[in-house]
Amino acid sequence: MPSTPNPFRYGSPVTGENFTGRKLELQALIERVTQGINVSVVSPRRYGKTSLLLAAEGAAARLGAVAVHVNVLLNPGPARFASALATSYARSRRQLLRRGAAAIAELRGRFRLAPTFEVGEDGRPRLSFSPSLAEPDAMGVLEDVYRLLSEDERQPVLVLDEFDGIVDIEPRSADVLKGLADTYPRVSLVVAGNRRRMMERLVQVHGAPLYGMTQPIALGPIDASTMARHLLRRAERGGKKMPAAVAGAIVGGAGPVPNDIQHLAFETFAVAGEVISFDDIDFGMDGAIALNEATYTEAWEQRSPVQRRVLAALAREAAAEPFGRGFARRTGLAPSTVQRAIDALASDDWVVAAEGTWHLTDPFFTRWVRSLDRQ
Ligand SMILES: Nc1ncnc2c1ncn2[C@@H]1O[C@H](COP(=O)(O)OP(=O)(O)OP(=O)(O)O)[C@@H](O)[C@H]1O
Ligand SMILES: [Mg+2]
Repeated sequence: MPSTPNPFRYGSPVTGENFTGRKLELQALIERVTQGINVSVVSPRRYGKTSLLLAAEGAAARLGAVAVHVNVLLNPGPARFASALATSYARSRRQLLRRGAAAIAELRGRFRLAPTFEVGEDGRPRLSFSPSLAEPDAMGVLEDVYRLLSEDERQPVLVLDEFDGIVDIEPRSADVLKGLADTYPRVSLVVAGNRRRMMERLVQVHGAPLYGMTQPIALGPIDASTMARHLLRRAERGGKKMPAAVAGAIVGGAGPVPNDIQHLAFETFAVAGEVISFDDIDFGMDGAIALNEATYTEAWEQRSPVQRRVLAALAREAAAEPFGRGFARRTGLAPSTVQRAIDALASDDWVVAAEGTWHLTDPFFTRWVRSLDRQ
């Protein structure tokens, strides 16, 4: 029997009908990038930064803008960063492709990297810049892209996703970027990043290289009712009925992270019959946990006994004051010991504080940790 395609998506950026909500943020972003204003998009992991950037780039392009988009962490080191930048620029100028060899000559004259034509997986020619063996001048190429973009008659946008990695490209890269942004004010720079502290060090703290230069947009959770309506629509698209109360329970059960909500919806849909029930949520959750059992066990064993005790207590019940006496009594640990454990767990993304309450970041892991109590 052919299985129904699962209509939920998680793990990578979503576009089109898989994208929901974020109306305010999207509008704010589009309004700014189409007017040359710099923006920084910040959120914890998997809240939907890249999805938002892609939606904004698509909308801005329809309004006549041109975007060059590079994921900094995925292109580590000066050589890969420079070639990703130049390649994205070349592809933003589609008419270049039609000009074949003449385009190569033009780009060679204006860029410090040598372009080549390659045939893409779809059989079509693509312009690209391979990372050459000689270390290219990444900051020089960044300047080339800024200069060429600023000469484009369309509104130019430069998007640097996973911007936290920029300091590993070259220590002075954030300062160079500041200089370029000042020199070429027509170009709207959009930076996005996960590690709040890292982004703050680069962008949002007095004295940081890009301080005061960007309009910050901080992504919170997607509104629960918007997310629940999205789940209903997607389930229907997949040919199954999801009662509103079940959609609400998935959103409530997965916690605030949109990726986790879509993941739980995916698992629930996969095990359900024609009408999705509350029990399916539990079965779906258990299925996901079973797939991750080995990873969870390993992660658990790598934490110290004190950290495990803190994780177990937070999995049982999120804590508003884990550093106080009540939590210390529950865990049998001194407040200062709890503090150290939470610092270590938070820096590895195992726990997070949301609206003043500390809890485990992953709802599936939370359920797995709770299940240890019953063993
Ligand atoms: N607007 C949205 N509508 C529906 N689902 C979303 C939305 N934004 C994010 N998601 C969910 O979150 C997942 C991750 O999205 P995305 O990759 O954009 O997040 P991110 O913040 O860029 O993640 P990372 O921190 O890993 O870079 C998606 O696969 C999807 O399940
Ligand atoms: Mg991302």
